[in-house]
Amino acid sequence: MMSEFGSTLSGLQGEAYYPSAEVIAQANVPDPEALRKEARDNPEAYWAKRASELDWYAKWDKVLDDSNKPFYKWFVGGKTNIVANAIDRHVKSWRRNKLALIWEGEKGDVRTFSYHALAREVCKFSNVLKSMGVTKGDRVTIYMPRIPETVIAMLATAKIGAVHSVVYGGFSVEALHGRIEDSESKVIVTADGGHMNGKVVELKKIVDEALKRTAAPENVVVVKHIGNQINMEAGRDYWYHELMAMPIVRQQQRCETEVMDSEDPLYILYTSGTTGKPKAILHTHGGYQVGIYATFKDVFDIKEEDRWWCTADPGWVTGHSYIVYAPLIAGATSVMYEGAPTFPFPDRWWSIIEKYGVSIMYTTPTAIRGLMRFGAQWPNRHDLTSLRLLGSVGEPINPEAWRWFYKNIGKERCPIMDTWWQTETGMFMIAPMPAMGLKPGSGSRPLPGIEAEVVDEDGKPAKAGDEGFLVLKRPWPAMVRTVYKDPDRFVKTYWSKYPGLYLAGDSCRKDADGYFWIIGRVDDVIKVSGYRLGTAELESALVSHPAVAEAAVIGLPHEIKGVAIYAYAILKANVEANEALVDQLKQHVAHEVGPIAKPERIEFVASLPKTRSGKIMRRVLKSRALGMDEGDLTTLEE
Ligand code: WTA
Repeated sequence: MMSEFGSTLSGLQGEAYYPSAEVIAQANVPDPEALRKEARDNPEAYWAKRASELDWYAKWDKVLDDSNKPFYKWFVGGKTNIVANAIDRHVKSWRRNKLALIWEGEKGDVRTFSYHALAREVCKFSNVLKSMGVTKGDRVTIYMPRIPETVIAMLATAKIGAVHSVVYGGFSVEALHGRIEDSESKVIVTADGGHMNGKVVELKKIVDEALKRTAAPENVVVVKHIGNQINMEAGRDYWYHELMAMPIVRQQQRCETEVMDSEDPLYILYTSGTTGKPKAILHTHGGYQVGIYATFKDVFDIKEEDRWWCTADPGWVTGHSYIVYAPLIAGATSVMYEGAPTFPFPDRWWSIIEKYGVSIMYTTPTAIRGLMRFGAQWPNRHDLTSLRLLGSVGEPINPEAWRWFYKNIGKERCPIMDTWWQTETGMFMIAPMPAMGLKPGSGSRPLPGIEAEVVDEDGKPAKAGDEGFLVLKRPWPAMVRTVYKDPDRFVKTYWSKYPGLYLAGDSCRKDADGYFWIIGRVDDVIKVSGYRLGTAELESALVSHPAVAEAAVIGLPHEIKGVAIYAYAILKANVEANEALVDQLKQHVAHEVGPIAKPERIEFVASLPKTRSGKIMRRVLKSRALGMDEGDLTTLEE
């Protein structure tokens, strides 16, 4: 198993961990180097082969159309619908009686869905959406707690060819408002509330407030989840359970899956970027399903008998790709949990693994660091022998957390798949496969069919060990197609720094073994606990407070969260700077954007470092805060 970089099963430089013979023997990809070579020799043939593992109403004419770069198209001419692969084909097979989803609420309630049961709920909700006039191409905003209806609503929207825009349930009023307005959604699907860490998150209240700021969508569908008192506006708001019981919905039972072109939109997902308001990343049916399915199968080695658990929220891309779509396409059984890992005690997650026999667990470095604090006695109380693979995503994992996870959760038997990818990539890009050597803190190497590189300022490959910009050199099937309603921004953000290369926005090193080490963001994205936030959105929340004239936000290293938010504010004249105002501003940001966006610290300043053209130099703020050299200040105005 030699590659251009040498073997990945022995002789890696530095701290390395190798899989057991048993892991290699049963791996879906027993020889990762051979698969990488096959894909490199003929990428289009490789992706066509992977696409052939799925169902298509009609086969594609062309695997990749690159005639209008960077607006690449995949599986052109193909007819499909991701729901046909996620649901329809399983219902026609023995898997109709297999569990698709095991859900546990924070309060301990359990609900399960076979593929058959899930298909029925999806059909019914598709018919509800149709009855509200939703048709192909219309947008539906989904703002939900982590409950099965989130999955049902996403699938039901996609099934009829409409486009979902899921907004993370931890976002708040202004973040939700901006996303509803930009997407021009016809319907909003929400719930009365959700349970999180023993508290109630009043989602419907937030929806009501957000809708006061915008031209309301026609309908709001409300799932009764916690049973609290909420406001229901006649003619606009409808209970989910009442709609699902309507005679026309009950009588119809079935709903035909809409036949889509490969390149028809599947969803938009808002994410934070370098400037201005959040941008919506657009994904399509055909290429996306191929990319997420192939990577899920190869990296997480999924088998019929596995119990897969991705701890993410469906509101982020990790949830879209690897809670909802890829596991269902693979016919897997997923575990989904509503609440906090520490509720009521810090062993909640370990008890879930034991109770449901989870065999593969995919989580985040922040969660691992957080749980590590409570000590190994919590996982040690539980039988974790069902586990065979672990995974990490969202931010670089520090080797200490990696080793703790490996030793105390995986008991030194379970390889950890550290997957690097983005909302924009849709699928894993740099990640190991089980039959490879691992280095704690590195996502290892680009997957088959993916070509990544670390380049210097001029776009030339950086020397081994040197820090540079991470770029992707070749298009991939699940790639972002455009920024919704803003193709110029798509070209400018990702494709303009280096012609022909996709700029990821991360800094990175590649070592002598060809292993990639992500260092962090080089743009104005802040990864707080793995959650992606933009400085612009946070700053605009701060200045929307009457006391603030100007604000700048940066991310600084934090022991648990990875990165924490530090804010600098210039107050308006005659406003008194005191501790109470700091608290008020923190609350204000939490109210506008969401609790995750609450700044760790707010400092009042008299001026902010700016360039002569008025751009805030966050780099200078960051260096000052860290007590480092401020670097080149020649463009600094004051
Ligand atoms: C970071 C999340 C290091 C990175 C799927 C990337 C990671 C951004 C890793 C995308 C990882 C994600 N190691 N860093 N394994 N995975 N990142 O769009 O900075 O929420 O650019 O997608 O998260 O964040 P997003």
